[in-house]
Amino acid sequence: MRTKIAGIGHYVPEQIVTNDQLAQYMDTTDEWIRERTGIEERRYAIKHKESTSSLGVKAAKIAIERAGITPDDIDFIIFATLSPDYYFPGCGVLLQRELGITKREAGALDIRNQCSGFVYGLSIADQFIKSGMYKNILLVGAEMHSMGLDFSDEGRAVTVIFGDGAGAVVLQPTKDENQGILTTCLHSDGTHAEELAMINPGSHGGYHLGTEKFGYPDVDVPGGVFVTQKMVDDNLLAPNMTGQLVFKTAVVKFPEVIKEALEKTGLSTDDIDILVPHQANLRISQFVQKILRLPDEKVVNNIQKYGNTTAASIPIALSEAWEAGRVKSGDLVCLAAFGSGFTWGSALIRW
Ligand code: COA
Repeated sequence: MRTKIAGIGHYVPEQIVTNDQLAQYMDTTDEWIRERTGIEERRYAIKHKESTSSLGVKAAKIAIERAGITPDDIDFIIFATLSPDYYFPGCGVLLQRELGITKREAGALDIRNQCSGFVYGLSIADQFIKSGMYKNILLVGAEMHSMGLDFSDEGRAVTVIFGDGAGAVVLQPTKDENQGILTTCLHSDGTHAEELAMINPGSHGGYHLGTEKFGYPDVDVPGGVFVTQKMVDDNLLAPNMTGQLVFKTAVVKFPEVIKEALEKTGLSTDDIDILVPHQANLRISQFVQKILRLPDEKVVNNIQKYGNTTAASIPIALSEAWEAGRVKSGDLVCLAAFGSGFTWGSALIRW
């Protein structure tokens, strides 16, 4: 028994935000952003009208329709995001409610593996399908970063990179030996957990990093305070990133985990028909392409239009490539991701 992608879809918000528009709020330029990241524009959801789960619902509806099933056929939901609607509960149940997946009261699992969330979710779904537990799993990767970015000069290195969007797939069992997920590889290294992170608000209370600096004053209650005035005043409620460390680690881990998947399946880089890397930075993808010696037509890049959409980036890119006819029956599709954690992973799929 193997797991196949039976339907795929994506949704990106209509609102386009160009580099020049961002330059109106922070000290940056179109030239700097293009040169360093390849990004030309990104999409932002309409604040107060859209949310991470609502973007996910739109992508999911397309994937469900293309799989030729109805929402009530879904027997498990996996939702990957780092920008959920609520701190809790997760987006999985909001999507379940919105899609009206009520008949089976399908389980909903939320995963928080940031940029590798989709690959992790795919691997989880693959195990559930292969074990025979579920027959129609809906896997969604969605982000609404625009709600939590720092639009001051201080946040510019992070803010210019990220965008909003969603992608979804429906996964089903197949007995066809020539189709489906061949393998997945998952890894992590928490050594640099805080180097690409949004650490406040959280339960750490300064435990890992020094109380004062991270905004937890002593308060006269037995517990802590979730959001403090100091966090707001000192701008400690935004993501932070040590860009060069992320870049240097990513260009090593991407090829490593792709080669691991190829070795596990007895295949080589020449066998790859299409590589869909997580859209972290165009320069990272170009580096990986060069190391693997893949021609341009075998690598999918759409970061120019959408920026880095984290858990949504692989399903959006895969969906676009599929719509454009770049992913055909029998093709060997390679997915690879790296990001905050650090966590990283790969998947090989015979389409
Ligand atoms: N516009 C203009 N200048 C900016 C800027 C922006 N948006 N962001 C940072 N700068 C400035 C810095 O302040 C610094 O100025 P200084 O030299 O006066 O101190 C200068 O540009 C260089 O900064 P640096 O961080 O060394 O740039 P870089 O070449 O490493 O590029 C990134 C920064 C973020 C583009 C790059 O490190 C990167 O892409 N890293 C990987 C990020 C990533 O992929 N994240 C997602 C992982 S899933």
